[in-house]
Amino acid sequence: MSKTVSIITENFGKYDPSSIDSYLSIGGFSAVKKALAMSSGEIIEMTKKAAVKGRGGAAYDTGRKWAQAASVQGDDKVVICNADEGEPCTFKDRSIISQDPFRLLEGMIIAGYTVGAKNGYIYLREEYRHLKPLLLNAIRESTEKGYLGDNILGSGFSFHIHLYSGAGAYVCGEGSTLIESIEGKSGRPRIKPPFIKECGLFQLPTLVNNVETLAIAATFIQHGVEEYLSHGTPDSPGTKIISLAGNVKNPGAYEIPFGLTLREIIYDIGGGIPDGHELKLFQLGGASGKVGDASILDTPYTYEALAKQGLVVGSGGILVVDDRTRVIDFVKSVQDFFIHESCGKCTPCREGNRQIAKIIDRFVDGNQHQDDLQTAERFANIMKNCAFCGLGETAQSTLLSAINHFPEEFGLEVAASEKH
Ligand SMILES: Cc1cc2nc3c(=O)[nH]c(=O)nc-3n(C[C@H](O)[C@H](O)[C@H](O)COP(=O)(O)O)c2cc1C
Ligand code: SF4
Repeated sequence: MSKTVSIITENFGKYDPSSIDSYLSIGGFSAVKKALAMSSGEIIEMTKKAAVKGRGGAAYDTGRKWAQAASVQGDDKVVICNADEGEPCTFKDRSIISQDPFRLLEGMIIAGYTVGAKNGYIYLREEYRHLKPLLLNAIRESTEKGYLGDNILGSGFSFHIHLYSGAGAYVCGEGSTLIESIEGKSGRPRIKPPFIKECGLFQLPTLVNNVETLAIAATFIQHGVEEYLSHGTPDSPGTKIISLAGNVKNPGAYEIPFGLTLREIIYDIGGGIPDGHELKLFQLGGASGKVGDASILDTPYTYEALAKQGLVVGSGGILVVDDRTRVIDFVKSVQDFFIHESCGKCTPCREGNRQIAKIIDRFVDGNQHQDDLQTAERFANIMKNCAFCGLGETAQSTLLSAINHFPEEFGLEVAASEKH
């Protein structure tokens, strides 16, 4: 029996994403119609009940975020759809944009109506430039048919959507950096406060949500919260689109109910490790996420169970690495990524990443000094606590979790009972 589900992805393959008529023929825009007949407060209550943690990685409660955004004073607010999807091994937002762009627009319109915004911006990563025509067409057709623009469906609510792209920097996925980028400045995070919910894009109150979060909102408005909550577990209700990649037979974006085990995801959905190799490690949540080993494959994929193992859902990326790769080489590739992507604004991240890289290089060559590991861990903890933004705070998550799960690969002799 298939372990995947089609709730957020129910429209995938069912209509032509380049045609609003095709979307309307499968009942498209019924979520917007329902939402416009409700009050903002009713939608916020539904969103709180759905208990959706933001799918951009930080897992902030969406209902709470929408309630805060709605309560900010101001008759000119902004909704930003974060389609930067820069986390390595993450391509679930691409699957939504390419196969169901109209549902994403519905999510944005509903968010705009709920918080009282006049304009929406999609910040699309430049590497997804091939999807621009599809989104622009969806925006144009929706406007022509009255689902977007002035006085949507005669409701008195007006909302316009604009499309922007950055130059391809990972840090531009961070909310305030993304705003700087749209404003034409270089991609560096803003100091907070003021918080973007009060003073964001063009100094206006701004709500930033991930693509998947917005698509989920349109889904539970259309079908009802109970239907959405009937999937998943009591603590992690609903479904999640994961991006499964690396050394698995069937890589891809899959929608799963929360609660499947990592083993079911990697072996039943992913088909297991190809060419007769064994699993070495998996990394959850992209480069800023954490790694685990085969001994915890029976952990359910829920926010709570993963946290107990020191793991995260994060962006929903699941990267599988087999026994052909040395852990230290894997850690080095992640480290190189962060050196490349650090914006250089703050010292802990700019310098810390480079200093740790020097130590990792010595491990790669087998020339490490006696106190290298301690020094790397000290630098990593300084970065975690003192970096200016989430990039530097999480850049060493892979290193620290790799030391925890594979101490022997770092020259530490630890009894099996002491592992983890
Ligand atoms: C370095 C960095 C990169 C990020 N990249 C993304 C991204 O590509 N897409 C995304 O949705 N959120 C990204 N985030 C998280 C956003 O800052 C923000 O929390 C999110 O877009 C909010 O939407 P959500 O509440 O729906 O998750 C990133 C955060 C950091 C610190
Ligand atoms: S942690 Fe500092 S240097 Fe690193 S990306 Fe953020 S602001 Fe830039």
